[in-house]
Amino acid sequence: MDKLLITGGTRLNGVVRASGAKNAALPILAATLLTKELITIKNLPHLHDITTMLELLGSMGCGVVVDEKMSVQLDVSTLNNCEAPYELVKTMRASILVLGPLVSHFGKAIVSLPGGCAIGSRPVDLHLRGLEAMGATISVEGGDIVASVDGRLKGARIFFDKVTVTGTENLLMAATLADGQTILENAAREPEVVDLAECLIAMGAKITGHGTDTIVIEGVEALHGTSYPVMPDRIETGTFLVAAAITGGKVRVIDTNVKSLEAVLSKLEEAGAKVSSGEDWIEVDMEGRRPDAVNISTAPYPAFPTDMQAQFVALNSVANGVGRVIENIFENRFMHVDEMLRMGADIEVTGNTAIVRGCERLKGAPVMATDLRASASLVLSALVAEGDTKIDRIYHIDRGYECIEEKFGALGAKISRVLN
Ligand code: UD1
Repeated sequence: MDKLLITGGTRLNGVVRASGAKNAALPILAATLLTKELITIKNLPHLHDITTMLELLGSMGCGVVVDEKMSVQLDVSTLNNCEAPYELVKTMRASILVLGPLVSHFGKAIVSLPGGCAIGSRPVDLHLRGLEAMGATISVEGGDIVASVDGRLKGARIFFDKVTVTGTENLLMAATLADGQTILENAAREPEVVDLAECLIAMGAKITGHGTDTIVIEGVEALHGTSYPVMPDRIETGTFLVAAAITGGKVRVIDTNVKSLEAVLSKLEEAGAKVSSGEDWIEVDMEGRRPDAVNISTAPYPAFPTDMQAQFVALNSVANGVGRVIENIFENRFMHVDEMLRMGADIEVTGNTAIVRGCERLKGAPVMATDLRASASLVLSALVAEGDTKIDRIYHIDRGYECIEEKFGALGAKISRVLN
């Protein structure tokens, strides 16, 4: 199995391009199920999760043509079944995103129920309750969610007890073809939800309020084809910027989205980084300094994202001072901590809080990636550790970071993919 070998100690310097956002690409690909016309999605990141979603659409009979620039043309007119089988869902929870579009467009769906995952139990009750409120009949049979509706879904007023990103996306997609008006309250405001809404609007959907906590959708009878580019990945961008800060270096990320990163940029400034930006680029210059520790508390957008929490634990682990990191979204998202302790970090976890005492230097060690964002923090830690770090189970990294060794390598990191 592939591993990443990283020799720490190099200050990162240079320019890197942001890839398309995985978490916007996945719902947008699912949204193509809402039209029978040809549709083209551009700027897809070359990632395992994207391949899984394309495989899922292909397994339903959709035509999928990918070009070398990761533009994909989809043809849903040939769809011959509405099933998302366990084999695919178990490798990617986001497969649940096909549920809303399938029920709304085809009146039925069988989607394997996603199980628990490494970062805790992740229920989909709010997705299901919302679809029921819109008139779908839902049952769980043999581990599958079986959903159906006679005729069209009906517009409804839906209040989310908890802010859920994919839950909002599933119901937003379902509502576009429903009969009448749907109002989603306490909806997720994440930029990826906004990107999905913009794609749906380009397909002819009537949506207002996306980017706020109340989204209003006037259902239409049909959506049409379009060509839509996926937004840049704010989490990948943020990870490169933390890499600059943690190594005392200077990195400019181009083709990115500045506004979507405000909470992260303000924490980087607090850590002592010089942050500058233009319309589609952000630069972090640490001018050779050691970062200062920062306190972090994760919450739904526009607050600090849970997907950047592990990277800031890494930053704090070599910072001046003590940083308190509170994880409010997922119950078991400190698994990177045990691995970082193996590298000499001083971190104490109690409940959902990690107290990170900055140390002068981490030491390279063999470590294991446990989930996508945890693995990013191990890469960052390895970049500043003395000696070699070998990261095992890097398939987690490959789910979310495109060409990670090429991109970090171009910034001067000593990083390679090895077999043993
Ligand atoms: C999405 C992102 C993930 C990110 C997360 C939070 C994608 C593909 N993934 O995951 O990278 O870390 O948002 O920003 O976009 N919950 C319920 N019931 C539900 C749904 C969610 O209780 O029906 C809870 C979850 O257990 C969690 C919280 O709500 O505690 C937020 O989860 P949610 O926003 O749904 O995460 P995902 O959409 O799965």
